[in-house]
Amino acid sequence: MEKVVENSTAFLARRYPPLVEEKIKNRYRVRCNNSDSRLSVSQLTEQARGCEVLFVSVTESLPRSVFDALSDTLRVVATLSVGVDHIDLGAAKEYGVKVLHSPDVLSDACAEVGMMLMLNAARRGHEADRMVRSGRWTGWGPTQLLGKELTGKKLGILGMGRIGQAFAERARAFKMVIHYHNRHRLDPSLECGAIYHETVDSLLVKSEFFSINAPGSDSLKGFLNQEKIQLLPKGAVVINISRGDVVDDDALIQALKNGHLFSAGLDVFKGEPDIDPRYAELENIYLSPHIGSATTETRNAMGFMLIDGLDELKSGQRPTNCII
Ligand code: DGY
Repeated sequence: MEKVVENSTAFLARRYPPLVEEKIKNRYRVRCNNSDSRLSVSQLTEQARGCEVLFVSVTESLPRSVFDALSDTLRVVATLSVGVDHIDLGAAKEYGVKVLHSPDVLSDACAEVGMMLMLNAARRGHEADRMVRSGRWTGWGPTQLLGKELTGKKLGILGMGRIGQAFAERARAFKMVIHYHNRHRLDPSLECGAIYHETVDSLLVKSEFFSINAPGSDSLKGFLNQEKIQLLPKGAVVINISRGDVVDDDALIQALKNGHLFSAGLDVFKGEPDIDPRYAELENIYLSPHIGSATTETRNAMGFMLIDGLDELKSGQRPTNCII
């Protein structure tokens, strides 16, 4: 892309992994948010003024006002995430700002966290850990910490993209039977025996375990509400590695309290990190602080993918990770 020239100025809204920052610094004049804390929209707008390339992550919101304010110089937004729901893509497009994200390379890491949530929620891993640490463990017991077995259970996956497929592959190794709903049915060669449901409701009715793996979007906000939860079989387990606002917190908490759900495992939350405090009071929920892609290998790969994408833009190519 001809407008991003060598020695452009880049603003790093968060500290990226050291190897990634090193590469960025070899290519751009870099200004950083050295505090590495989440910047508000006005702080971001102020600190990023004059930059051509803006490196962000899921913690930064980029509404239209950011593009209005930075459009004189801003050419590319690069986000260290697969999700782009924090960016006003319509505004970016209007101003001719390219948006790069980092899909694919994080699918395995996210699928691993999906398994971590599912195993802990089903086998009560967090409760077991607390029992041992607190000294409350009085020894093996025939009815102690009885959980729910994954083997042979139906796992319903909402969103069978790259992360959904990686998750299904792992769940299959645990002998789960995979059902899914997706905007489009997968090619049979990718289904690997998974059963497609044309409607989410028909998927919910079957799901002894239900995992939300679809990308966050306006249309999914509040999707898992009381009505949808009631469609799940009694004793189901809910997993969320998508976005927190897909879940109606009141409805989920009520279903965990009244026993309609056995348990839940969440890696994402509405308004994170300020999560609904009632979650912390429940035993039957495993809570994880949005670490889906948090491995050194994956975060490096995500960063390198953004840099490669920028290099391609510079040489006039269209990178595969360019959303607009
Ligand atoms: C993403 O990439 O969208 C994740 O939520 C961040 O780990």
